[in-house]
Amino acid sequence: MKEWLTVALPKGRVLRAVAPLFSRAGFDTSALLADDRTLIRVDPEKGLRYLLLKPDDVPTYVEYGSADLGICGRDVLAERACDLYQPLDLGIGRCRMVVASVVGAPEVTGVPRVATKYPRTAAEHFARRGVQADIVHVIGSVELAPLVGLADVIVDLVETGETLAQNGLEVREVVAQVSSVLIANRAAYKLGQQRIRPIIDALRGAVKSGILPQA
Ligand code: PRP
Repeated sequence: MKEWLTVALPKGRVLRAVAPLFSRAGFDTSALLADDRTLIRVDPEKGLRYLLLKPDDVPTYVEYGSADLGICGRDVLAERACDLYQPLDLGIGRCRMVVASVVGAPEVTGVPRVATKYPRTAAEHFARRGVQADIVHVIGSVELAPLVGLADVIVDLVETGETLAQNGLEVREVVAQVSSVLIANRAAYKLGQQRIRPIIDALRGAVKSGILPQA
């Protein structure tokens, strides 16, 4: 029997963008989109097995070899020191990592307190600018922090800008452009070229056809 090729995918909004991409690449996404709580979905025809994970956990499963391939945001990769091969930018999940603060708030003098889900990325950003910063690690609803005095600024992702706007915050600086990339376990990539290569090529074609203007 053919062995499964395992792909770790992020649940939630990125998965909703991944599914059409996989569809364009010629994969059956019905199992992927099934509205149930199973965490392993299979495409027996292609021999693909999908693991549905919290986005932050995708690199862990791929690095440890529980998955051969994965899809992961550059934000997550930058935050983690994972040894992974990154063969393809998928051009989905596009957003920006920014520094934001309360609209019209004066520039912080002294050491800014920074709330973020991305402590390493935030620390590196301020260090690059020669600014000493006090980093406060929070897990979610980061926009709340400056509204209640937990922090002066936040470092967080902005996609539409709606969350910032609705909470009276504004972008002060762009830290990085973010998108989702295909990641591969290094050993699986080397040893499984025959099976992995066609998948990467199909996804590359799907990315290109998504970018080109429709005829
Ligand atoms: C992300 C991010 C922002 C929001 C930005 O949070 O951390 O809060 O999306 O999106 P927008 O610019 O389109 O409004 P997520 O929805 O993942 O939830 P979280 O606050 O629990 O992290």
